[in-house]
Amino acid sequence: MLILGIETSCDETAASIIEVNQNKTKVLSNIISSQISIHKKYGGVVPEVAAREHILNILPVINEALAKAKIKKSEASKKLAGIAVTIGPGLVTSLMIGVETAKTLSYAWKIPIIPVNHIEGHIYANWINNQKIDFPAVILTVSGGHNMLIYMKDHLHYKLIGDTRDDAAGEAFDKAAKLLKLGYPGGSIISKQAELYQKKIDKQKIVNEIKLPRPMISGQNFDFSFSGLKTALLYQVQADKNWKKKIPAYCHEFQSAIVDVLVSKTIRAGKKMKAKTIILAGGVSANTALRIKLADKVAKELPEANFSLPELAYTTDNAVMIAMAGYFKLKQEKTNWQELKTDPNLPLQ
Ligand code: KG4
Ligand code: ZN
Repeated sequence: MLILGIETSCDETAASIIEVNQNKTKVLSNIISSQISIHKKYGGVVPEVAAREHILNILPVINEALAKAKIKKSEASKKLAGIAVTIGPGLVTSLMIGVETAKTLSYAWKIPIIPVNHIEGHIYANWINNQKIDFPAVILTVSGGHNMLIYMKDHLHYKLIGDTRDDAAGEAFDKAAKLLKLGYPGGSIISKQAELYQKKIDKQKIVNEIKLPRPMISGQNFDFSFSGLKTALLYQVQADKNWKKKIPAYCHEFQSAIVDVLVSKTIRAGKKMKAKTIILAGGVSANTALRIKLADKVAKELPEANFSLPELAYTTDNAVMIAMAGYFKLKQEKTNWQELKTDPNLPLQ
C-alpha cells in the first residue's frame, strides 16, 4: 500500500511516499524544504514569511516526492491508497497550504484524505523502522511546540497524562540559545556546546560549577514547566561578567536540567502506568544526551519494558511520520476532501 504524506505545520514544507507491506515500511521518498536559513535572521519562525515559502515550495516538493518514488502523476490515482496531511496543531497559515493542496489532489485523483495530528505524526515516527511495539506504551513527546506525556493503550488511543504549563523544552532550548546569542534553532546548537563541555568534564575530571534548578522534578503530577529555568539562566548570565567565556558550561547545565526533568517524569509515568514500551518522540528526541539517559534509565528502572526512539532523520518535522500515522489511520478514518478542516489548536484524541 502506498501513502503520500504532506506536512506544512511550521517552517518545513515536506512530502513523502511510503510503501507498507506486511508490517514493513519502505520509505520511497522523503523531501523536506527547510526554511531555517530564512527565519534565522529573525531569531524564530515568522508565520507570514513561512506561509509564503510554503506556497512557493509545496508543489515542487510533492512533485519531487512522486518522481523519487517513481510514480508518474498520471498513475497517482491508481497507485496511491490515500493522502495523509497534517491538519493541526501548528501555524494556521502554514497548515492551510498543506491542507488545501491535499484537498485539491484528493478531488483530482479521487483518493481519500487522512487527517493527521502533527503530534501523532511524531509518535508514529517510531513505527517507521519497527512495527513490533508493545502496548500499553508511555510516550514522551517533546518539540518546539509541545511537551507531553501520553498513555497509549493501543494504536491511535491517546490519553494525555502530562503537559507543559508554559514553554515546551524545545522552545526553552530556542530561547536559551537566543539569550546566549548562539542563533536559531537552539536545540542542536546548545547540545553541540554541551557535548564539548562533557568531553572537557571527562578529560579533566572537573565538575560544572554552574547550577540551575530542575523545575517540578519532585512533584507528584506529570506536568512540566521550563519557563522559570530560562529565567534562572537569564539572571545567572546577567550577574556573570565572564559568561561569554563559559558558554559551553552554561549550555551543559541547561541541557542537563531539561534532560533530568524529562527523564525522571517519564520513568515515573512508565512505572505508574505499567508500560510495556517507553517511547521518545518529537524534535527534541534528536538530543543525544536525552536519547542516552532515557535509554539507560529505562534499562535500569523499568527492566521489563522496551525503549523505542525514532531514527535521527525522523526526529524533527518530516512527512514520512505523517504518512506512517496515515497508514494506521486509513483503516478507521477516511475523510472526504469537503469535510477536512485545519485546526491550529487541534487536541490529540
Ligand atoms: O518537531 P520539531 O521539528 O518542530 C515542532 O514541532 O516544534 O521540533 C523542533 C524543536 C526545536 O525547538 C529545536 O530546538 C528542537 O526541536 N531540537 C533539539 C535538537 N534538535 C532539534 N533540541 C535539543 N537537542 C537537539 N539536538
Ligand atoms: Zn514537530
